[in-house]
Amino acid sequence: MPISINGKAYDVPADARVSLLDLLRDRLGLPGTKKGCNQGACGACTVLVDGSRILSCLALAVQYEGRTVTTVEGLATGDGLHPLQEAFVERDGFQCGYCTPGQILSAIGMAAEAVRGLPSAVTADVARRAIELTREEIAERMSGNLCRCGAHNGIVDAIADTFAGDRKGGSAR
Ligand code: FES
Ligand code: FES
Repeated sequence: MPISINGKAYDVPADARVSLLDLLRDRLGLPGTKKGCNQGACGACTVLVDGSRILSCLALAVQYEGRTVTTVEGLATGDGLHPLQEAFVERDGFQCGYCTPGQILSAIGMAAEAVRGLPSAVTADVARRAIELTREEIAERMSGNLCRCGAHNGIVDAIADTFAGDRKGGSAR
């Protein structure tokens, strides 16, 4: 069964040792997903699988046969950026650019988790059906995506602009 990536069907590699990250970057020519640590510690390789965020460096491509993967290359429609991409530009939410695709995919998955009512370590009322994305919630939920420069506040601002309050929602588009 093929794997769907950004709306296109691909065969999974015969070699079961190939990570999803290496499939994307090295075999399919989709370098938007970044390899930072390659060991699950930085978040640069985050992609969406069926709308949920995962670390593609820790995932074997064969595990995702029949699943739907979205990378940063699949967010824009023609010349139209995803609203979160626009917010990153507006808020200066990037400096290195290397962590940015992972930040964006992770934030989209994170917003969907909040809509589903999944609590974080800072959620006061874990019984709530939908979690309000305060800055504290956003910072906590995005803590797996490292920014080591000065853009962190801009990243949180961009995510809050897009998903906080009544604008929250975690669709890929
Ligand atoms: S490259 Fe996957 S978490 Fe760092
Ligand atoms: S924007 Fe990438 S490390 Fe800060």
